[in-house]
Amino acid sequence: MCEQAGAAEILEWYDRHARDLPWRVGPGARAAGVRPDPYRVWLSEVMLQQTTVAAVIGYFERFTALWPDVRALADAPEAQVMGEWAGLGYYARARNLVKCARVVAHELGGVFPQERAALEGLPGIGPYTGAAIAAIAFDAPEVVVDGNVERVMARVHDIRTPLPAAKPEIRAAAAAMTPEARPGCYAQAVMDLGATICTPRTPACGICPWRAPCAARAAGVQGDLPRKAAK
Ligand code: ADE
Repeated sequence: MCEQAGAAEILEWYDRHARDLPWRVGPGARAAGVRPDPYRVWLSEVMLQQTTVAAVIGYFERFTALWPDVRALADAPEAQVMGEWAGLGYYARARNLVKCARVVAHELGGVFPQERAALEGLPGIGPYTGAAIAAIAFDAPEVVVDGNVERVMARVHDIRTPLPAAKPEIRAAAAAMTPEARPGCYAQAVMDLGATICTPRTPACGICPWRAPCAARAAGVQGDLPRKAAK
């Protein structure tokens, strides 16, 4: 498909249908010049590793009420942060959250780095989270690929190679489509598409902004993709 046309279509859809999420600066506010708070983007992305949006919202709101910025979180006793994290699971994330907040507060002057490579060096920030923060908080044209995005890309490009072998092909497809303009909105738009329309079992192709260029839909195989290697 034509890459920039794909970006234009999904951004137009996002402008009308973006989910209202507490860590998100919506497309209208973003266009008016409001910038996302890197602290809130980082906190949300760490919470969203392995956890659903629905489960994260309440935790995110409690954390930001208790600790509105990275210095406040850095000053919190680790035991209190662990207590507030209880129920979210994967507790190494909470320990790394405190470590990362302390590095940013005490060694980086309270300012998150803008570059993916620098973000990736911080505790608890791997390649996916580094790319997501750089794109969403700083509008860097990074390639942001999580499970939802893999499914969308496998379908749009009709990639039939099973996962995980398909990962490089999917990543290349995602990279080719990532626009220079509004990369933060674009990353969130593809996430929203995967969460609300291009869902695993019964995708709502009739209302999808990518229905015209979707190769899997043209072939009638969208519900079978992405394929997974037999265990
Ligand atoms: N999943 C991971 N990051 C997300 C984000 N920023 N918005 C919605 N879903 C997500």
